[in-house]
Amino acid sequence: MTMDALLMAAGSGTRFGAPEPKQYLPLRGRAVLRHSAEALLRDGLVRRILPVVAPGEERRVAALLAGLPAMPPVGGGATRAASVRAGLEALAADPPDLVLVHDAARPVIPDGTIAALRAALADAPGAIPAQPVSDTLKRGAAGHILETVPREGLFRAQTPQAFRFDALLAAHRTGDGSATDDAALLEAAGLPVALVPGGEANIKITWPEDLARVEAHLAACLI
Ligand code: C5P
Repeated sequence: MTMDALLMAAGSGTRFGAPEPKQYLPLRGRAVLRHSAEALLRDGLVRRILPVVAPGEERRVAALLAGLPAMPPVGGGATRAASVRAGLEALAADPPDLVLVHDAARPVIPDGTIAALRAALADAPGAIPAQPVSDTLKRGAAGHILETVPREGLFRAQTPQAFRFDALLAAHRTGDGSATDDAALLEAAGLPVALVPGGEANIKITWPEDLARVEAHLAACLI
């Protein structure tokens, strides 16, 4: 079974507040997205990476990924779903059996995650890493609590998310483009998506302090 990976890097990263989108920020001397690509390739299960980037950034990203089994970057769209669809349509010319979709802003993929996802695809067309919610959850409005939301059975969805390629392409072709992750499209189509254990180290860089947390994790791994 062949498995390729989409590296999603077409976002503008406006919440971070840095002049550069977060996937290009330096992390231990290399761009965040280079760490993310190397994490996808580390255990040898991914055949090749297709980066999906903001139009105009293709050459820059190709240079940042030099030496890795990466295809020429393709331009993304206005939403994450549109960007994923663009990547899937590009892969469809020579489709893999399985595809991972990974946020370039997640530079750490815990050991064993990709193998667990791949194994889960034997029984379901989709599988995602997820962490059980550990905080107590509140719904609020105008600065006040409306209610406490039971956290039993609630998970935080992470990436890479894994799919049988044909199932994800079909789901994107019929979706309305508003999904914030890919599993949601299979859920909407009534298809099962497996949960595999995620990890606290799988941090999506969204705020400046997230970069410091990833730095600390990588430093601890090297001790
Ligand atoms: O905005 P958010 O943090 O949810 O984005 C998750 C990932 O999706 C990021 O790696 C970002 O670059 C990517 N993305 C994309 N195309 C968009 C929006 C986000 O590839 N239009």
